[in-house]
Amino acid sequence: MKQENRGRLTKDGIRIYDPSDSAGMYAAGALASRVLDAMSEHVFPGQTTAEIDRIITKMVDDAGAKSATIGYKGYEHASCISVNHVVCHGIPGDKKLKDGDILNIDVTVIVDGWFGDTSRMFVAGKLPRKAERLIEVTHDALMRGIEAVKPGNTFGDIGHAIQGFVEAHRMSVVRDFCGHGLGRVFHAPPNVLHYGRPGTGARLEPGMFFTIEPMVNLGRAETKTLADDWTAVTRDKSLSAQFEHSVGVTETGVEIFTLSEAGTFHPTY
Ligand code: MF3
Ligand code: CO
Ligand code: CO
Repeated sequence: MKQENRGRLTKDGIRIYDPSDSAGMYAAGALASRVLDAMSEHVFPGQTTAEIDRIITKMVDDAGAKSATIGYKGYEHASCISVNHVVCHGIPGDKKLKDGDILNIDVTVIVDGWFGDTSRMFVAGKLPRKAERLIEVTHDALMRGIEAVKPGNTFGDIGHAIQGFVEAHRMSVVRDFCGHGLGRVFHAPPNVLHYGRPGTGARLEPGMFFTIEPMVNLGRAETKTLADDWTAVTRDKSLSAQFEHSVGVTETGVEIFTLSEAGTFHPTY
């Protein structure tokens, strides 16, 4: 059997993996998460995002794993690093971080053919009050989404949980990017929307593996992509934050493959 064709597909084209496949997802998720755990000490004012990416590249290599992003659609780095009003897909570069900058570092690794994809927020220096609220709400929105993951619920239930929470805090959910199925491939069906109506979309079944990765803006939801064809920014230049976990649906609920062993998924608690 071709490695990528294991399990079966639902009528919506979503792959159902075997319970024994979770082990591979946990191994990949743990490495991606361990890489992010190690970045806390490398984020500080004066540091460049290119240097952070170099350290990530070496860690992935030293672990005997592969970066999923190097060579992906022409992308050349082991991470995306999105600073302040950058929503996602920020390209590591030589600009120095300033005191009070907030940044998302997004890492995807391949371990024995399994993909682990996670991102979280970091702060250079002192965290500004408004950014703290944004980070808090974005983190908690992801967790609300994860709480909605159980057999019988739908993808719309996940999106609704996230959107309802974010909008109750007068912030905006980005609609131009979404989570995705993953497993033996990086991006697979379904598109995991971070907004939606209860009971809509495909029904969750044990064995589905996907990411949830809400992006939340302090201002309006609209984004635009810069001339480099990667960097997505908020149109109104407002601050943006994102957290991402890779998860699986189990018989009773959810398993999170990318939990932080160091307990540093959230930067301040
Ligand atoms: N890791 C991102 C995600 O969450 C994808 C990055 S693709 C890249 O899906 F090419 F920009 F790295
Ligand atoms: Co992802
Ligand atoms: Co990611």
